[in-house]
Amino acid sequence: MTAPPIVIDSDTASDDAVAIAMALRHSNADVLAITTVAGNCSVEQATRNALYTAELCHSDVPVFEGSAAPLSVPPEFATWFHGRDGLGDRGYPPPARAAERTDGVTALIDVIRSHPGCTLVTLGPLTNVALALSREPALVGDVGRCVVMGGTNNSVGNVTPAAEFNLWFDPHAARAVFAAGLPIEMAGWDLCRGHAGLTVAEQRELAAASTLGRFFVECNAKAIEAIAEQSGSERLELPDPTAMAVALERDRVVLRSSRHHVEVEAASTLTRGMSVVDSLDVTGRAPNTEVIWEIDVDRFKQMLVDAATA
Ligand code: BDR
Ligand code: CA
Repeated sequence: MTAPPIVIDSDTASDDAVAIAMALRHSNADVLAITTVAGNCSVEQATRNALYTAELCHSDVPVFEGSAAPLSVPPEFATWFHGRDGLGDRGYPPPARAAERTDGVTALIDVIRSHPGCTLVTLGPLTNVALALSREPALVGDVGRCVVMGGTNNSVGNVTPAAEFNLWFDPHAARAVFAAGLPIEMAGWDLCRGHAGLTVAEQRELAAASTLGRFFVECNAKAIEAIAEQSGSERLELPDPTAMAVALERDRVVLRSSRHHVEVEAASTLTRGMSVVDSLDVTGRAPNTEVIWEIDVDRFKQMLVDAATA
C-alpha cells in the first residue's frame, strides 16, 4: 500500500540530515518538500545543509527556507552540539542547488493544502508550523499525521533539566502547535537514548556501509563528542532519525504508545519548553497527542543501514 506523502520541517543539522536521508531513500516514501527553520543553526545554514543532504541522496526534492528566529525569544543555536555549520565542521562543499523562492511558511501551507492527508514530520523547533497554523487554522484538517521530534516523556531534558531542545528553542510556537488540534505523534528525546544509541561498533559498521553511511557518522562527529561530555555515553544518539522511523514505519517501529493531553510550558524560565504529559490523565483533559514510549530498536538501526545502502 502506498503511504501518504511526507513534508519535512527541519533545522537541518547532523541528525536531521540522517533523518532526511532515511525518508529520501525509503522504498515507500514520497517526500514532497523540505522546509527549513532556525534551531540547531541559522536558517540559512539549515537550508544549505538540507540541500547538501538531498544532493548526497540524488534527490531534487524542493527545499524552502523558513523562519530565521523563534516567535518571541532570541535564537540560541546548538553549535556546541552540531558544530558551527551544523554538520560537525567537516568542511562539506556548498550545495549545487539553491532553495526555492517561496518562503517556508507559505510552502508548508501550499503543499499541505494541496495534499490533504499527508504526513508532516517536524525535526526542529515548531516556528514554521505555528506560523502556518496562525495564517491558516484549517490546515489542521489537512494533516493526516504530524510526527513531532520534540519534548521528553516526563523525563530529563537535554538543554535544561526540564526541556528538550526543539520545544525549548521556541516554546511559544510549541505551545501553540500542541494546542492546535493536529494529530500529533510525539517522538520525545527519550526514544533515542539507551539501546537506541549506536555503539562504537555500530557506528563503524554504518560508516563502512557506503559513502552515505560514512556521512551519517562523520557529520555527527561533534555530536558524538558532545553526547560523551554531557552524558558519559559513547553511543551516537539520533533523535530525528527515531522520529523519522516512526513516521516511515509506525506499525513496525512503535512498540508502545498511548494517547494523553500534552501541554508545553512557555511562561516559566525554569521549565521553559517542558512537555508536560498527563500520563495518568489526572487533568481529565482530552488527549491531544499520541505519546510514543518505546520503539523497536533493532528495526530502527536496520532502517539506518538500509538508508545507507539502498
Ligand atoms: C533535537 O534537537 C536537535 O539537537 C536535534 O536535531 C533534534 O531535532 C533533539 O533535542
Ligand atoms: Ca533537528
